[in-house]
Amino acid sequence: MRLTCAELGGNEEHVYPAAIALEMIHTYSLIHDDLPAMDDDSYRRGKLTNHKKFGEATAILAGDGLLTNSFHAISTSPLYSAEEKVHIISKLTTASGLEGMVAGQLLDMEAEKKSISILELEHIHHLKTGGRLISFAVEIGGYIAGLPSNKLQTLKSLGEYLGIIFQIQDDILDVEGDEEVIGKKVGSDSENDKSTYPSILGLEGAKIYKEKYLEEAMKCIEIVGLKNTVLADITRYLSERNQ
Ligand code: IPE
Ligand code: MG
Ligand code: MG
Ligand code: MG
Repeated sequence: MRLTCAELGGNEEHVYPAAIALEMIHTYSLIHDDLPAMDDDSYRRGKLTNHKKFGEATAILAGDGLLTNSFHAISTSPLYSAEEKVHIISKLTTASGLEGMVAGQLLDMEAEKKSISILELEHIHHLKTGGRLISFAVEIGGYIAGLPSNKLQTLKSLGEYLGIIFQIQDDILDVEGDEEVIGKKVGSDSENDKSTYPSILGLEGAKIYKEKYLEEAMKCIEIVGLKNTVLADITRYLSERNQ
């Protein structure tokens, strides 16, 4: 968000309340995602997961608190007008709530232990963190920089592609990643019988799919005039990252 705003000539300091709110929602979603009722994971970012360290009740409440207070970070910011606050909060709720990430998490859980098509998988990935939250970050960066609505639409698409690239790589790393480097357990998806890009398309097929999205993302980057920027580098990094 900060980078998109800055590269488009906006005041990057103005993104902080929205970016902090997004980070709080992202963190809550991961704390809850790791709970025994969901993915039942013990490590995150190289450390014990919240419920492993502090207990389940605290982990649930930590997530609840982060989610609720994320809206406080935007609504109390002196940097946005009332209209901007409503716009940003409404975009954030769409991205993270029942039409976005929460729906993605539900479909993701439902898809466990059954085989789904690549189209169903795309739908889940589109809704999970990747698709919606990254899209929010990129689009709001452009909004704060004052971009016209047609370009904001392209940024939204770019964010969706980035999200899918991120998630395909997340699935790939779950197969061939190094636990020491990625800071979480490898093989969690197959243990949970999860349909992933590698499980449906094979490892090589998943990599080809990722390349296709990388090309689409690069086209969006050109359209909004961000070629040869750090954002373009980050896009390539997301696709190649090993952590
Ligand atoms: C988590 O997806 C997505 C959200 C928290 C919304 P994953 O379950 O695939 O993420 P990791 O692999 O635990 O990081
Ligand atoms: Mg999960
Ligand atoms: Mg998980
Ligand atoms: Mg994963």
